[in-house]
Amino acid sequence: MRVLTVSVAIVISAAVMLDAQRRHPVSGRVFAPVMGVAGAGWLERAERESEEAPSKAIAALELKPGMAVADVGAGSGYYTSRMAKLVGTTGRVYATDIQPGMIDLLNRRVASEGLTNVTTVLGGVDDPKLPPQSIDLAIMVDVYHELQQPQVFLQRLKASFKPGGRLVLVEFRKEDPTVPILEVHKMSVAEVKQELEAEGYRLDRVIDVLPWQHIIVLRVK
Ligand SMILES: C[S@@+](CC[C@H](N)C(=O)[O-])C[C@H]1O[C@@H](n2cnc3c(N)ncnc32)[C@H](O)[C@@H]1O
Repeated sequence: MRVLTVSVAIVISAAVMLDAQRRHPVSGRVFAPVMGVAGAGWLERAERESEEAPSKAIAALELKPGMAVADVGAGSGYYTSRMAKLVGTTGRVYATDIQPGMIDLLNRRVASEGLTNVTTVLGGVDDPKLPPQSIDLAIMVDVYHELQQPQVFLQRLKASFKPGGRLVLVEFRKEDPTVPILEVHKMSVAEVKQELEAEGYRLDRVIDVLPWQHIIVLRVK
């Protein structure tokens, strides 16, 4: 009987610990699972422009030739490729991901499109592994809600910004029940503000020009 009681206690506490790891300790938000390499086809779907208007998101960034940009969680490089053309040969895009399979896709894209200003980076779940004080802008498109260790990740990301650098999150709008994405893949502005301000970022502005997503601009405090 005692063995059974102890076993049940171990199972319950393991479940509680697992649940605790899946939730943000400040907001209580449940972390989304990481999208696998099998999802790369969805990122490259022909309807992405009509559904999400990524060209409008990129226009809102006001990229200039010579800028250094980090596409954090770049996936197959949909944004990387488009941003690399805008920052030009004097600029640079650091395209990061935690999945070696995504880095393979990125490297193949860089080669096939002849992009000379893209550096691919295999990051860690808790570390973007970007060079210090090197970035004018870091963008995370549908990535932040997948971070499994957002607090330490955001602390390390801070070190990569040049003075005045911007962090931009593009996230499906949780406030809008008509956005056809699972709840765990959405974020509200209130959640972003609460979680990122706790890590030393300041909400600068929200640009709501996209059909489904917020563009949320933050700066290091
Ligand atoms: C939904 S996909 C979005 C890909 C790309 N940003 C796009 O919009 O086309 C999310 C990507 O974030 C990556 N990711 C998840 N956690 C990460 C982390 N801690 N650091 C870097 N990339 C991460 C995943 O491997 C996946 O490729």
